[in-house]
Amino acid sequence: MCGIIGAVAERDVVPILIEGLKRLEYRGYDSAGLAVIDQQSLKSKKVSGKVAKLEQEIKDTLLSAPTGIAHTRWATHGKANYENAHPQISKELIALVHNGIVENYSKLRLQLEQWGYEFNSKTDTEVIVHLIHYHFNQSNDLLTAVRTSLQSIEGTYAIAVINPEVPGHLIAARHGSPLVIGIGIGEHFIASDIAALIPVTQKFIFLEDGDIVDLQRNSFKITNSGNPVKRAIHISQLQANAVERGQYRHYMYKEIFEQPQAIKNTIENRIHNSSILETIFGPSTHKLLKNINSVQIIACGTSYHAGLTGRYWIEKFAKIPCTVEIASEFRYRNPLPNSQTLVVTLSQSGETADTLAALNEAKQLGFGPSLAICNVPESAIVRMSDMVLMTHAGPEIGVASTKAFTTQLLSLLMLAVVLGKHNNMDHKIEHRIVDAINILPAQIENVLKLNSIIEQLAGDFADKQHALFLGRGIHYPIAMEGALKLKEISYIHAEAYPAGELKHGPLALVDSKMPVIAVAPNNILQEKLKSNLQEVQARGGQLYIFANHRAIMQELDYVKVIELGEVDDIISPIIYSIPLQLLAYYVALIKGTDVDKPRNLAKSVTVE
Ligand code: F6R
Repeated sequence: MCGIIGAVAERDVVPILIEGLKRLEYRGYDSAGLAVIDQQSLKSKKVSGKVAKLEQEIKDTLLSAPTGIAHTRWATHGKANYENAHPQISKELIALVHNGIVENYSKLRLQLEQWGYEFNSKTDTEVIVHLIHYHFNQSNDLLTAVRTSLQSIEGTYAIAVINPEVPGHLIAARHGSPLVIGIGIGEHFIASDIAALIPVTQKFIFLEDGDIVDLQRNSFKITNSGNPVKRAIHISQLQANAVERGQYRHYMYKEIFEQPQAIKNTIENRIHNSSILETIFGPSTHKLLKNINSVQIIACGTSYHAGLTGRYWIEKFAKIPCTVEIASEFRYRNPLPNSQTLVVTLSQSGETADTLAALNEAKQLGFGPSLAICNVPESAIVRMSDMVLMTHAGPEIGVASTKAFTTQLLSLLMLAVVLGKHNNMDHKIEHRIVDAINILPAQIENVLKLNSIIEQLAGDFADKQHALFLGRGIHYPIAMEGALKLKEISYIHAEAYPAGELKHGPLALVDSKMPVIAVAPNNILQEKLKSNLQEVQARGGQLYIFANHRAIMQELDYVKVIELGEVDDIISPIIYSIPLQLLAYYVALIKGTDVDKPRNLAKSVTVE
């Protein structure tokens, strides 16, 4: 999704803006641009395409300036072209970058056209910049002009604005889209994501909805509804090199191989004497979980698949009902509230607009306490929740989520145990789960050794248009996640089914051209699954079976078994997701797609 960076300094900020844009690239974008104030005149550059192209064009112009704003745009209103790229500029005076969506832009556009403004883009953003220009003409004060303009905007925004008539000032505001101030020494920054600012500072202030900040080199003033407000300063632990790719060809590959360490980090300090500590969710956990009699999980995409998997653990170990819903559906369904239902949001980024809105909706409706399982410490979802469990996977840059998913799964398993303890769970079961958790990093190391086998297998998929993924029970959501990984980075249409459902429709799709991938660990459903696979085999489908042992089925030309070895039943969903990540990665590599930034997708989906 769109990214913002801005800076007010004494030194030249152009290299800082470009580096910041590069660090925001992982979020997904299709055009980029910047505007600076150079000796009281506004200069800007935009490109349709990559930041590298913008950087090259800037080098050619020798642009340098102490104040500026920059943006990566992920198209919502209007195509991904030069005109629609940000900054949007009004009458060579006001330059603005914007993340979010202006819902009432058609009405505002009509009004502005009546006032004589000409529109050069198809963006909703352009109405904001002209409005600010209009109000600046009335008040001759940039802060007032921004504040007055935002009163007419319906929708979500994070904006940054500059004006050469007030050099050395940058006005920024947020409502529903994240924005953070970076505090430097004699310089200040603004960004939509701290990753953009890590090379220049580790001190941050997270703006809240309604906040407007007037940023200068040596000071900043935050106001909300016109009143001055103070916001806490956070020191980030994120290291600049944590978001670097190193010798790896792709972030996704790096992140797949970081999983043993990510899992170790998620476990660290959370288990003591074979017991999962309740306080890992925060100091008030005991009180908040005391009367819980059900769980509602809300998430999107990969995080939703983690939730679907977690449901099996919660119902099995905690013995309380758990429902899982896609956030964008939950928020509009008018669900029936229950004050004893724990609301669990799962989100890698903690900024997903639908998940945030669904959490808000749950709170408004009167659901019980909320728990966020999240990977980004200072994110909006974390700040909004009563309890928090950080997944500690480290920054995930590849758009396709991998290590965030497996650490979410582990977090849900720990949640199931903590809820179980509130429901008289037998200590022996807890110890058995803790033993399985402790061997998880080593088991992941083992399964990663399948790397070259899976690389070879990927060749079979390169010319395929479709693929079916099958699983049963707790491994059905793992099959769903395998299908999502394959479709999002290799662009092969992939669907997942619970294997028992095949004969109720999807079997009609099976022929010799249809690869069928089965997640088939050794568990009580394996025999049932085998019967389903026979149905595929009988129709000439190509089977790829991920199983503990080769013996699951006779290997033939069109039946390949990928052997994972002995895997503990409790943690097998976590282990089985890893070869599916590798499969998607290698298929995408053969197909030559942009693995880390697949087309049309964004890492952090901050619009509805
Ligand atoms: C797919 C993927 C997405 C995200 C989804 C939710 O690989 O990463 O489906 O899972 O956009 O994002 P978060 O977890 O940040 O709320």
